[in-house]
Amino acid sequence: MQLLHIDSSVLGPYSASRALSAEIVARQVALHPGINVIHRDLAADAALHLSSAHLAAWQGGTVQDAALGADLAKGGAYLEELLAADIIVIGAPMYNFSIPSQLKAWIDRVVVAGKTFRYGASGAEGLLSKTKKVFIASSRGNVYTAGSPAAALEHHESYLTGVLEHPETAARVFDIGGPEVLTYLQIMHIMAEELHLRRRVIIPVPVLTPLLSSYWIHLVTPLSKDIARPLAEGLKNPVVAREDSITEIIPQELLTVRQAIKAARSKTADGQVETSWSMAGPIEGDPHWAGGTVFQDVREVQINAPPHAVFQAVSLLGGDHGWYSAKYLWTIRGWMDRLVGGPGIRRGRLHPDRLGYGEALDFWRVVGIERDKSLVLRAEMKLPGVAVLEFCIEPCGSAACKLKQNAKFQPKGLLGILYWYSVLPFHHFVFRGMLEGIKTQAEKFAKGDERPTPHEVPEPSL
Ligand SMILES: Cc1cc2nc3c(=O)[nH]c(=O)nc-3n(C[C@H](O)[C@H](O)[C@H](O)COP(=O)(O)O)c2cc1C
Repeated sequence: MQLLHIDSSVLGPYSASRALSAEIVARQVALHPGINVIHRDLAADAALHLSSAHLAAWQGGTVQDAALGADLAKGGAYLEELLAADIIVIGAPMYNFSIPSQLKAWIDRVVVAGKTFRYGASGAEGLLSKTKKVFIASSRGNVYTAGSPAAALEHHESYLTGVLEHPETAARVFDIGGPEVLTYLQIMHIMAEELHLRRRVIIPVPVLTPLLSSYWIHLVTPLSKDIARPLAEGLKNPVVAREDSITEIIPQELLTVRQAIKAARSKTADGQVETSWSMAGPIEGDPHWAGGTVFQDVREVQINAPPHAVFQAVSLLGGDHGWYSAKYLWTIRGWMDRLVGGPGIRRGRLHPDRLGYGEALDFWRVVGIERDKSLVLRAEMKLPGVAVLEFCIEPCGSAACKLKQNAKFQPKGLLGILYWYSVLPFHHFVFRGMLEGIKTQAEKFAKGDERPTPHEVPEPSL
């Protein structure tokens, strides 16, 4: 027996569809000992998109280009593997409402007239053996159930089932759900318990106002209104997995909501989260500092610690760790920002002690990072101007260095200038305190009082 296992997610070890397809394969291998498994990782090695040269070659034209020849051979191998397979397992994430283009490129090579289908009296007819079993491990971020706002954008499972359709599986979609059916109210109470909060007082109201709710969620949680709005709108759609025949195909222990929350929280605590909603958002280029007024708050400090210890201390900024000083001022500033629609400081950070280019850091975003040398943050708070916070580490010998901290602000109009002067009195507490905090922390790291984190700081990818 032969099993063809196809993966197409670009998310490597973080992929949901890869985890699902691997489970299905493991189950099938256990059910059919000795089965031969062929794995095609289309994200690592995909076929080329079809071109006129491919069509010409199929029509008998000579192939002179070596790359085209190799690609045609690859397409031929895809087809042979499909024809020989008794079981086909396809990991298929939804990207932009449909399947990944790598998977489409595979389909373009195996949908071959005369081999896998033919045109009959009633249109296209499948030629593959009816005994083949196909499993699709489908993953997606949104809800596309009938009647939901995004239902019309579903071109993923409908496309795959359309292409693979045959009598046993015609347009069959499996629901994957947990072992319990809960209301949103019950889920909120469970979440509060898991966060060790007092029991929430929840007053149900008869109307759903997604716009208003999204502003409210924006204000009281770390989620932005743009992410909150579709979530609030989704509340009116029941998302209950009623059809559970998948549990017979892949029997396994299902997580309860509480177990799922616990698992997600432990991943965040361990810093194992690769991407998060807080990373969403554009990364703008450098501001046009040239021309116009630029206010600066420049401070320097000599630190008895090597650059890597100083960089480690700088890398701790934000999130649960805070900004080394004037916590109350940062909190007030965060609230003010949320009130006017900005992200506030509750956005936190992805990893407790490691920063990467493009990541959100409370109401800042990392727009420049050079390990042991510099860090540049650009403000995403609502401001009448553009603000950037820069840290520059200059080594002085092997065990000491100079840390230069520069807060730049380019005001927009009179309001921007007034803003700068109104916050000026607080700079002393905020910026001086921050610099001193970094110095103390870096010297502790250098003395070995606190061990710098063993995590690798990713190389900047500008
Ligand atoms: C480039 C990209 C595009 C995406 N587009 C959609 C989309 O249109 N609709 C959706 O529901 N989810 C979308 N998602 C979310 C993925 O479908 C979801 O994260 C899924 O778990 C991905 O599967 P994977 O983890 O196996 O890659 C997208 C994700 C990525 C990376």
